[in-house]
Amino acid sequence: MSARIRILALVLPLLLSACEWFTDFKRQPSIWTWEQVKDSTTPSRGNPQMSVPTTGTVMAGYQVSYGALPGTIDSMAGIPNPTPASDSSLVNGRKYFQINCVVCHGDRGMGDGPATRYGLPGINLTTDMTKGRTDGYIFGMIRNGRGLMPPYNRIEEMDRWDVVNYLRALQGVNGKTVEVGPLAAPGVTGDKLPGPTRMGPTVPAPFFKPIR
Ligand code: HEC
Repeated sequence: MSARIRILALVLPLLLSACEWFTDFKRQPSIWTWEQVKDSTTPSRGNPQMSVPTTGTVMAGYQVSYGALPGTIDSMAGIPNPTPASDSSLVNGRKYFQINCVVCHGDRGMGDGPATRYGLPGINLTTDMTKGRTDGYIFGMIRNGRGLMPPYNRIEEMDRWDVVNYLRALQGVNGKTVEVGPLAAPGVTGDKLPGPTRMGPTVPAPFFKPIR
């Protein structure tokens, strides 16, 4: 055997086998770009400054589908309500409830909204059954809708929790007293209507002066 063949016989198995004698830094503890750190709810990297969330505040939108199915609504029942039922939350909730829900569920959620005069079944939200639902379930119901109830996910997440808080007050579940009925005569704007979006890209980014 010539020297050349002898070297080849030595090197070939190394080249052809999966032997990792030169790992090239591929194997080391590292976190992939958007990988979540184990047992943590925080992404490994913070979001870029001034970026706008697109996946929601409580859970990423892709985690739960928008299917208007009981099973999907139930799967959101465990989402905790991040918003305390403060006065400002209840006032904001009332605005959205008046605009979006009253037409069917009525000013007090008793299922006597004007649409029921035209054949829509009146769904009372103050029954023991609905009182017994979790905040996350109601949040999910607003997000996805079900049956004859359309989805109201145009109500942004933080505002949606305000609606949940307001409905809880109507039900007498969270011990809060709230005002009922329209906030003003039709056509009145200003603080009688919900404010601008807090999530959408129409929100101007606050001025930020980089420190040099
Ligand atoms: C077009 C009429 C309509 C509008 C508007 C509407 N709903 Fe409903 N809602 C319904 C109907 C009908 C049901 C029953 C659906 C079913 O059980 O399949 C329902 C069911 C619900 C339930 C579930 C009750 C339970 O115990 O399962 C909740 C909670 C609810 N609505 C809250 C709201 C809120 C909050 C709004 C406003 C953001 C709203 N709805 C707007 C018609 C409407």
